[in-house]
Amino acid sequence: LGNDVANPGIPLPRALFAPRRENSQGFDLSDDRVLAGIFDARDRAAPVPQADGDAVTNPANGEIVGHQLQATKAEVAAALDTVRPWDAPAGERAAILNRAADLYKADAGAIFALLAREAGKTLPDAVAELREAVDFLRYYATGAAALDRPALGVVAAISPWNFPLAIFTGQVAAALAAGNGVLAKPAEETPLIAAHAVRLLHQAGVPEHVLQLLAGPGEVVGAALTADPRVSGVVFTGSTETARIIRRSMAAHLAPDAPLIAETGGLNAMIVDSTALPEQAVRDIVNGAFRSAGQRCSALRCLYVQEDVAPHLTRMLTGAMDQLRLGDPWQVETDVGPVIDESAKAGITAHIEAARAEGRVLHQLDAPAKGSFVPPTLIRVKGIADLEREVFGPVLHLATFKSADLDRVVDDINATGYGLTFGLHTRIDGRVQEMVDRVHAGNIYVNRNQIGAVVGSQPFGGEGLSGTGPKAGGPEYLNRFTRPKAGGQAG
Ligand code: NAD
Ligand code: ALA
Repeated sequence: LGNDVANPGIPLPRALFAPRRENSQGFDLSDDRVLAGIFDARDRAAPVPQADGDAVTNPANGEIVGHQLQATKAEVAAALDTVRPWDAPAGERAAILNRAADLYKADAGAIFALLAREAGKTLPDAVAELREAVDFLRYYATGAAALDRPALGVVAAISPWNFPLAIFTGQVAAALAAGNGVLAKPAEETPLIAAHAVRLLHQAGVPEHVLQLLAGPGEVVGAALTADPRVSGVVFTGSTETARIIRRSMAAHLAPDAPLIAETGGLNAMIVDSTALPEQAVRDIVNGAFRSAGQRCSALRCLYVQEDVAPHLTRMLTGAMDQLRLGDPWQVETDVGPVIDESAKAGITAHIEAARAEGRVLHQLDAPAKGSFVPPTLIRVKGIADLEREVFGPVLHLATFKSADLDRVVDDINATGYGLTFGLHTRIDGRVQEMVDRVHAGNIYVNRNQIGAVVGSQPFGGEGLSGTGPKAGGPEYLNRFTRPKAGGQAG
């Protein structure tokens, strides 16, 4: 696995601070500048972005980080004409994916800078994300050798902005390991890091006619991909709402056996009972709710604390929140960076203000005035049913429960219909087994935080509204990118 990137020394990201060379329209054409776009088999020169609408900005300060080329429907169709399954033997595919892992690691400085500047990742989050991407490459490379089933054909890989390297890479690496051709559609917010990843994969030896990047709006590029019968399967990570749209489109246009592998949202709870160790619980609550500015599908959204210990634990929690440092994600001391953009900030802020109007904001930090920052906030709720939707930011909802009501709490958690992560802090062994048996969640964590699943040892993915399975980074994942085939020969 790639865990040896933990202390890479963070070299100065030369590529991103190189002097600008501008064309007559004022766009940066420096070779060092990462331009997302369409990489196709004909190796045509990338056209120059035409408008500032194509600009990708830094959520911490609004500065332009780069420009993206948005594919048109016609370009999606052309890419589908060109892309081919990967006919190299499994051993060769595995060797190339492992080489890509080495290239990712060697490029750590530029990758960290892109993650910080394009996605607002703090340095610890950027390091963890690179490590996860490298782990995915190596894990699926290892799995490729054990596969004895044919590839699906051409897979559309549609990814979100919140793990623009790790999830992008995980989807692409799995599809490639199984021998598929891949058309990768990154999130509109984070095309530059995706373009950088594709460049490294091509450099490692993935043929250009096997992997192509198609940046652009989901409603155009994503919709065109999921409505084209030449696509033989879709791997998607994003909101539950988008997964529904994709499923409808696939049902109408793709072959009936084309799989949808969807990893979607969560309304994740944690229960802390009166036997929990408060210092440990508070540390895990803060990490689960506020790390990555709460922009993880796995993040803790609704904390249930047993009534007897709630006043003490809440005091400790608000004290721990006060220790968090918000600011420029590129500074090592920053704990919480910005949310992805102004529109996300507006939506989360509206949720907080509605709670404030009802007198339910229990605690809130200050946030920098400039940039898309949302201050970590603690909101009182009666229970998880008060959360109408996944609020994708640093907002934690707190409810209390009486010991006698624990069954009802579990029923309420299950009634959301989501089932991604669940956390439990308790010292009662029997309660651990009871919760594991009863709570509907793909990943259950006991006496630790509920984020940061490790590839290979904690396969990740949910049930119900949270995803279709199989779990990413687990032993069953690659099979879904293949066609089941039985065969045999008479003796
Ligand atoms: P999103 O659903 O808005 O977008 C995800 C991707 O889908 C983007 O590339 C987008 O362009 C594309 N898309 C949008 N409309 C489309 C359409 N009509 N057809 C095809 N593609 C379309 O999600 P987001 O805001 O980028 O990501 C945040 C969401 O992702 C949250 O809900 C989070 O919980 C979820 N998420 C889940 C996991 C998981 O593993 N379960 C991991 C990370 C994020
Ligand atoms: N796999 C990511 C986590 O576990 C989303 O936090």
